Amino acid sequence: MTVLQTEKPLLRVLAGESVRPLPFWLMRQAGRYLPEYRAVRKQTKDFLSLCLTPDLATEVTLQPIRRYHPDAAILFADILLIPFGMGQKLAFVEGEGPVLEPIRRSEDLGKLDVSRVDEVLAPVMQTVRNLRRELPADVALIGFAGAPWTVATYMVEGGSSRNFEHTKAWAYGDENGFRQLMEKLVDSTSHYLLAQIEAGAEVIQLFDTWAGALPEFAFRRFCIEPTRRIVSRVRARYPHVPIMGFPRGAGMMLADYISETGVDGVSLDPFVPAHWAAEWLQPTCILQGNLDPMMLVTGGQAMQAEIERILGALGGSRYIFNLGHGILPQTPPEHVAELAEIVRSWRG
Ligand code: CP3
Repeated sequence: MTVLQTEKPLLRVLAGESVRPLPFWLMRQAGRYLPEYRAVRKQTKDFLSLCLTPDLATEVTLQPIRRYHPDAAILFADILLIPFGMGQKLAFVEGEGPVLEPIRRSEDLGKLDVSRVDEVLAPVMQTVRNLRRELPADVALIGFAGAPWTVATYMVEGGSSRNFEHTKAWAYGDENGFRQLMEKLVDSTSHYLLAQIEAGAEVIQLFDTWAGALPEFAFRRFCIEPTRRIVSRVRARYPHVPIMGFPRGAGMMLADYISETGVDGVSLDPFVPAHWAAEWLQPTCILQGNLDPMMLVTGGQAMQAEIERILGALGGSRYIFNLGHGILPQTPPEHVAELAEIVRSWRG
């Protein structure tokens, strides 16, 4: 086992060390459930300008760190900054979520310009540099991007979707055309992640929220394959920066996702049985996650029992505590403090 010259428990687990207390962080740990986030958000024109104003993005990233001192901060940004950076029209509409001008045919691809991304997203790199300066010495900084499939669903549907009809119609019916879109996403995303690492991100996470909508053949082509290419490009330049994947809903495809993409670890959604993951996945990679975010809304005894059950199954080593998806806006902040205390005092 490599012993890293670092005080950061999260990086030590990622390097294969057994660490107590177990490190934890929470997806969407910055966000609307925190009154101090809502206060900052009220001062900004919209969510996009919050993401692209480094001082404010730095501040909201730090808010949950001050309250709970988790072992990682995740850069405050959004997976849809990549399509925005390439020139696709994007707005976050209050109460409705993201709205994009849809791109549904090869002929529309000319509207996307990968070469703009650097300049448009330069403020994100400033946020990363600010955070490396301001974070406590034991807190790791996670950079992230959306995986191409998930980002493509928003670009093609024009927003959130239930059945991904337009995206699948394109991917299944005109695979060569759809591959050109994926190509642009692989290029811009690899480049964007390399820039985050150059600016100071110490771990990378790739969010593939809608991976579970793909049947096996399509999961291989549109989730595993583009992710593999991003991982190999980032790894070629920064072999020591750990890369975590989150192919949400991948289920039985998780083992192939891990071995074929080359990620160092995966986040588990709440539907993956913890004991199964411990037996079949943990020997080859780092695991993270699994708690149903609704448990954090519930709190109390039920939450404690579920956290202890997950820790009992996965907490031996190579595990980072987290939720199986992002914190919900109705989560009472006190419950997050309880969770932190339970994880920190667990000795297994
Ligand atoms: O604390 C963190 O986790 C870091 C910041 C972060 C955000 N989005 C901030 C955000 C991260 C890592 C994301 C990733 C993201 N964004 C994903 C993948 C993870 C997941 O949750 O599945 C996806 C699918 C998106 C796209 C997105 N962004 C949607 C669909 C929405 C609208 C729905 C919603 O929750 O409002 C967003 C907006 C968004 N991204 C908010 C935050 C804090 C809420 C915006 C607000 O303040 O109004």
